[in-house]
Amino acid sequence: MVQSFLQNFVHYFALRGFLLILLGALLISKPAGGQQPALNLMPRPSSVQAGTGSLRLDSSFSVALTGYSEPRLERGVERFLERLARQTAISLNSKVAKSGQATLLIRTDHASKEIQEVGEDESYSLEVTPAGAKLAAPTPLGTLHGLQTFVQLVDVSSDSLAAPAVTIQDRPRFPWRGLMIDSARHFTPLDVIRRNLDGMEALKLDVFHWHLSDNQGFRVESKSFPKLQELGSAGLYYTQVEIRDVIAYARDRGIRVVPEFDMPGHSTSWFVGYPELASAPGPYEIERRWGVFDAAMDPTKESTYKFLDRFIEEMAKLFPDQFFHVGGDEVNGKQWDANKEIQEFMRAHGIQNNQALQAYFNKRLQPIVEKHGKSMIGWDEILDPTLPKDITVQSWRGQASLAAAAKQGYRGILSNGYYLDLGWPASRHYAVDPISGDAANLSPEEQKRILGGESCIWAEYVDAQNIDSRIWPRNASIAERLWSPADVRDPASMYARLDFVATRLEWLGLTHKTSYWQMLHRIAGAATPDEFAALHTLTDQLEPVKDYTREQTAPAEPTSLTPMNRVVDAVPLESAAGRRFGELVDKFIAVSCLDTDAGARLRRQFTAWRDNDGRLEPLAKRSFLVREVAERSRDLSALGTIGLAALDAIAKRQPAPGSWKTRQLATIEQLKKQKAQLLLLPAPAVQKLVEAAAAGGPCMAAK
Ligand code: ACM
Repeated sequence: MVQSFLQNFVHYFALRGFLLILLGALLISKPAGGQQPALNLMPRPSSVQAGTGSLRLDSSFSVALTGYSEPRLERGVERFLERLARQTAISLNSKVAKSGQATLLIRTDHASKEIQEVGEDESYSLEVTPAGAKLAAPTPLGTLHGLQTFVQLVDVSSDSLAAPAVTIQDRPRFPWRGLMIDSARHFTPLDVIRRNLDGMEALKLDVFHWHLSDNQGFRVESKSFPKLQELGSAGLYYTQVEIRDVIAYARDRGIRVVPEFDMPGHSTSWFVGYPELASAPGPYEIERRWGVFDAAMDPTKESTYKFLDRFIEEMAKLFPDQFFHVGGDEVNGKQWDANKEIQEFMRAHGIQNNQALQAYFNKRLQPIVEKHGKSMIGWDEILDPTLPKDITVQSWRGQASLAAAAKQGYRGILSNGYYLDLGWPASRHYAVDPISGDAANLSPEEQKRILGGESCIWAEYVDAQNIDSRIWPRNASIAERLWSPADVRDPASMYARLDFVATRLEWLGLTHKTSYWQMLHRIAGAATPDEFAALHTLTDQLEPVKDYTREQTAPAEPTSLTPMNRVVDAVPLESAAGRRFGELVDKFIAVSCLDTDAGARLRRQFTAWRDNDGRLEPLAKRSFLVREVAERSRDLSALGTIGLAALDAIAKRQPAPGSWKTRQLATIEQLKKQKAQLLLLPAPAVQKLVEAAAAGGPCMAAK
């Protein structure tokens, strides 16, 4: 294909040397960090050296633990063997072997901290040769990470299932690599938590930040204040036994669990049982709507701090991690403004405004948190120069506050840019670096205070069925940003590995791919196979509206009781099919539309889209969930027709008339608008093709 393409190329554009250079660059370009072999490792290790040959996997495969050992390591190896067996369908002996005789020889030097701490040694080295493999790590944390790398190496080869010979030295760039799950807005069942912890382990993430209370629910059993869960959760909460199980499960995987109890705002659910905590009289009900609400704790009453003292004492015992997250975000201050006693208190204490009142609250809260042995962490609203330097700031509103905090001596983690619920493509998250923007200008000592980052999944539109597809696979790109060296940043390489990892994650029980398929079947009901295929063709090109527009575009006000059974709830937040289509168009245009193979693929795609609506139409009459996207289906067909016309003009090398271009672009502008809260993903790529096909466009320039 390349050769005939080259002949065409030279024939048409012999004088266009700059295009030849471009072509050359396309053909020989290597991903950044190109010395490393193309292994599907994610996150990419700090150093990889390819060896010769490979280690075949068969039923004689065995593992030995030497040096320091503990039950967690034995369980880790058993899990590793189970996973390898599932991935290869080779029956493996799950018993840990005697030292020296094993295929994979593990050596761990010493124990890690009983309660995992920030900044422990997580490094490991892994050497695979055709004769066997060696994994060495100072602590069990590194050993666990190295086992995950080995699992990723094993793949089908031309004659066996094998791991390629390789030498890897690896360590994380940041000590804090987190995922926050919001279990308050929609409850997250325990099996969902566990499988996401498995996903985190696979990607070497080490902090599970658990958002456990908000206006819509209080999710933890409190024995000191049982009305918190009894009245604040509609029965959907975790018992203390269940919490301990999750913490043990996470620890087994090298993951810390940081609980968050959001205060003084985002706290309506507390007030259902304990209205005396609030700044306005009750009664209160669990909030069912989304948004920022007025309810806030009363920071002026001593009884508030007495309550929090007892509550935090209980929770500090339940959650062993050193950090305790107190939220602190989005207090709108309306209840404070409206409360005469609070206003009087502020006057008496010289508290100028609500921000200062929240700082007062935090100054009372921090010693309570510290008294119970914890270090306080909160969203960037808690940052106030009068607070002790022990607090940590989680930056969600912008990267600048992270740098500002570090400059003032506070530790921080970045979440701005890592909000998974905003529906950004993985490449956009991947480009966000904790040490960039203002942080790039910090001194090395200040930079060290930036501990890492956390992706966040806020759960307004996330339930047990679609949560995996809202987190994965995109979260793997953030995991790589936080683990791998800063210069590992080529999006093409990232996507190639992400596609591979996405499939592998389903071996762990994650359902980001299968839930999409299941949800489509619910939407389709008793569809014929052809109708289902037509629905799939359509939905593969659709993505939910982005950022915070979901609420504004909703057909009716959404609540926590709204069933999430629509197409917008089912389709992935980043469509791999849509991305690949965009890449194909870019590639085609980059070579002046002379790649006949790409042209043929585009033509097949456009023809299928043009004809797809006719195949789907009968189903839209039978399913209201399909009917909601009937207009998007007609739009996809319209896009197919436009694409075919553009290809026709390109094939004839006759520029399409300006009036045609104007009309098509006007239509495409309409198609780009959301309908049924869905974006038609290929619209911008088809627009490029229309522009390329018209006079002066990149595919007509030679005429
Ligand atoms: C937040 O997104 N309000 C932390």
